[in-house]
Amino acid sequence: MTTLFSEAHQRERIPAEIHASADAACRGLAAEIAALIRERAAQGRHVVLGLATGSTPVRLYRELIRLHREDGLSFRNVLTFNLDEYHGLSREHPESYWRFMHEQLFNHIDVSAENIHVPDGTVPRAEAFARCRAYEEKIRAAGGLDLQILGIGRTGHIGFNEPGSGRDSRTRLVTLDALTRRDAARDFLGEANVPRHAITMGVGTILDARKIVLLAWGEAKARVIAQAVEGAPVESLPASFLQGHPDVRFLLDPAAGSELTRIKHPWLVGPVEWTPALARRAVTWLSLEVGRPVLKLLDEHYGEHGMADLLTEQGPAYNLNIRIFNEVQHTITGWPGGKPNADDTHRPERASPHPKRVIVFSPEPSDEMLGMGGTLSRLVEQGHAVTVVYLTSGNLAVPDEEAAVAADLVLDFVNGSAGAAATPARNVRAALAAKLTDPQASDTPDTRRLKGLLRRGEARAALRLAGLSEEAGRFLDLPFYENGRYRQFRAGPADIAAVAGLLAGIKPHQILATGEGQDPSSVGAVCFEVLRAALAGFASEPWRADCRVWLYRTPDKAWAAHEIDMAVPLSPAQLARKVQVVYQHKSQRSQTPAAGPGLNEAWQQAEAAARDLAATYDALGLAEYEAIEAFRRWLG
Ligand code: GLP
Repeated sequence: MTTLFSEAHQRERIPAEIHASADAACRGLAAEIAALIRERAAQGRHVVLGLATGSTPVRLYRELIRLHREDGLSFRNVLTFNLDEYHGLSREHPESYWRFMHEQLFNHIDVSAENIHVPDGTVPRAEAFARCRAYEEKIRAAGGLDLQILGIGRTGHIGFNEPGSGRDSRTRLVTLDALTRRDAARDFLGEANVPRHAITMGVGTILDARKIVLLAWGEAKARVIAQAVEGAPVESLPASFLQGHPDVRFLLDPAAGSELTRIKHPWLVGPVEWTPALARRAVTWLSLEVGRPVLKLLDEHYGEHGMADLLTEQGPAYNLNIRIFNEVQHTITGWPGGKPNADDTHRPERASPHPKRVIVFSPEPSDEMLGMGGTLSRLVEQGHAVTVVYLTSGNLAVPDEEAAVAADLVLDFVNGSAGAAATPARNVRAALAAKLTDPQASDTPDTRRLKGLLRRGEARAALRLAGLSEEAGRFLDLPFYENGRYRQFRAGPADIAAVAGLLAGIKPHQILATGEGQDPSSVGAVCFEVLRAALAGFASEPWRADCRVWLYRTPDKAWAAHEIDMAVPLSPAQLARKVQVVYQHKSQRSQTPAAGPGLNEAWQQAEAAARDLAATYDALGLAEYEAIEAFRRWLG
């Protein structure tokens, strides 16, 4: 954890703690809550907790459950008030917050049912106002909230207080933002099923809590966190109103804290130790900031941007510019598996052995092509033995319509036969028909299997087009995904054993993987944790010491220039092929035509990300390429 209120924190208007991981942050907070509950219990008093939903607090709830089970922590003296609830959902609805809270926490601890409060999503509109006031009254009657736990939405909302919510707003019925509804689309199996309204405690209700702790994990939250902590309090970002509270703090993981000035541009908020990595970060930032290639930066540019001491230590500008230019230049290679028989002193990957055994890990089919489809083709062309490992089946992301088409196809193919061969397809057809009246019903095992097979077919088509043989693809269908649901995935020993078995069989020289830094509840992050755990088991094996791990990113979270250790340029033809390869993942295309301009489709985003990176290298003054795919070395 970082020290608070040092010079580096001068821009921060809310204490923000960056913890080693979401789990570490939650362990600390759970211990704090447990201490409060016990202290009050000893005094014969109760505790009033304000609780939140979403994937963010799930780890906190798991830790509280553990303390209840293993440490005897009792919740008998606890009253809870949840922040919000979707309007129009019954308690039993799979996505209702009432149900979420019971499944994630209440059913596993000894809190009394009468002490649990969640806004009622079924209240008729005409009664909503009165019921919201009654909710506030109940909080007041309980003595007010002792501690309010918050997550944060990508719009900067707290609870469901969307941009535009006033500082004094109270519990009320609100309309959900388009981005919020899009973010919830996956949970509701389609944006059309996401409610348009919700009941939420107001910003004012939240600010009345005696203590507030906001949690955020993963880089998708980084920008909004930095704005809430460092920007002015504004209605367009309701979380920024927390700045006025006397006892509020944010608990972050490193990814969520990565946009804070003291992390991103530490030289702007005080003296820093100019390590080579920081110098590269600062100089590439400076070049993009002033809009001049690295080699054309002048002493005054450094001086005007808080980097005078870098010049004093390592300057003048001329020397620094050349050094950083060369460093970035050396990240560029057309030989991602190493160039055989070449001097590799300044190359990102070793020349030998050649060819290499390479494993590309893809959390869901298509991630690998989105993030590194061009590089994958190059590795194959350059003679390496490439295995693409699909960690999960990706079947949760297949629309019902696609599965219905596949089931029909199987039925027609077996010519309506009554035989056993047609039974699973017929079952799928029946299950999908039932879902038409109940869109939230979970898929049957047969439907999940068919959906997974569909994605396998797409993955194989993409592999062929990328120049790989079908045998190069391995499908692990990890159990955490088959048995889990979005926001609640939890990997276990069986997942790690499956990946470890594969690693032991191949003993790769090079691994390319993704998911590090993502929201810890996402498929990508869970997959990365499984890989990390599996690799840890080989720490003393010679092949592990000889194996380099490279991280790639999917288009929505590209690397910044200073983070890149290997940049693989793509020619116009290679980029076109990459796009075509991604296009093979047909089930992942939008189900409706794009409503307006914008990069709605995955292949468009992949193309744009690769082009943007090439434009960044160009702006830094390096060679001008059509597109670039980038990697960062992972040192464990
Ligand atoms: C929903 C909830 C918020 C939550 C947000 C973020 O909008 N109403 O309370 O903070 O989602 O969700 P997640 O934690 O899954 O990122």
